[in-house]
Amino acid sequence: MRLVLIAFLLSLSGLAAAETVLVTGSNRGIGLELVTQYAAEGWHVIATSRSPHDDEELLALAQKQKNVTIETLDVTDMAQIAALAKKLEGTPIDVLINNAGLLGGRPGQDWGNLSADLFARLMAVNVFGPMKVSEAFAANVAASEQKKIIVISSTIGSISRMENPTPFPILATSKAAVNMAMRTVAMQLKDQDVTVAMLMPGIVRTRMMYQAGGMSLEEASRQTEFEFDRPGTITAAESAQRIRNVVASIDGSETGIFLNNDGSRIDW
Ligand SMILES: NC(=O)c1ccc[n+]([C@@H]2O[C@H](COP(=O)([O-])OP(=O)(O)OC[C@H]3O[C@@H](n4cnc5c(N)ncnc54)[C@H](OP(=O)(O)O)[C@@H]3O)[C@@H](O)[C@H]2O)c1
Repeated sequence: MRLVLIAFLLSLSGLAAAETVLVTGSNRGIGLELVTQYAAEGWHVIATSRSPHDDEELLALAQKQKNVTIETLDVTDMAQIAALAKKLEGTPIDVLINNAGLLGGRPGQDWGNLSADLFARLMAVNVFGPMKVSEAFAANVAASEQKKIIVISSTIGSISRMENPTPFPILATSKAAVNMAMRTVAMQLKDQDVTVAMLMPGIVRTRMMYQAGGMSLEEASRQTEFEFDRPGTITAAESAQRIRNVVASIDGSETGIFLNNDGSRIDW
């Protein structure tokens, strides 16, 4: 009872240690919303991006919110991963969110024109990136209170749900692969009480949706308004809110789980 009271008083005084979250690909879309919302809630936010110097919205956020630190991280750059892990050695990370990902666009995924280069790129960003980042920061997560590692996966990676041709077979393959990659991470870290979850963020109105509609990455990157107001789609802000709710609800009783943005299970 006395401990609860002390914790309550510390939280009122602002002296209680805030939780820390590290997000990859935090300069736009779902990642930018995640860092914005965690920052507003008072978390220590390590917002990583591959080119922070020109990420205007992220820079403005860090300017406004002193609990946001920006770090450079391309998840396919092993030297950058190692350098950031060294820099953050000894810093507990409560929640590590592997959000960075690529859709890959339609050219190169068309049947009859499958691209080996695109396959290699998507496997590097969507699969090995989260796996290597999780390995690099595992000790930071294990040293924290919450001990959670998340990857933003997708239902397109559900093998049992794939019953019709998809315009994105390489993306689908990469998301199925990242589920297995993160399941191996989950088993590796199970005895350190780290919980790993793969989350479907929803069908979210981000740059990725423009690409899914047929725009090139460059064209889609130039869009500033994401107005695909199609039924069933949600904004990046709604998606981030749901992801944060699911992350908060994960209680550590099971690890290596594939969850929807309402916390329900998705079939592998
Ligand atoms: N939108 C959806 O409907 C949907 C559905 C299912 C799953 N997802 C997943 O949700 C995650 C976020 O996607 P989003 O919708 O927010 O798309 P987005 O707006 O295109 O954002 C993707 C983010 O990933 C970053 N990124 C790409 N390659 C990277 C690399 N090598 N290293 C570090 N960061 C890299 C991008 O950085 P740059 O700006 O530098 O390119 C950007 O910040 C992805 O994993 C995606 O697969 C999205």
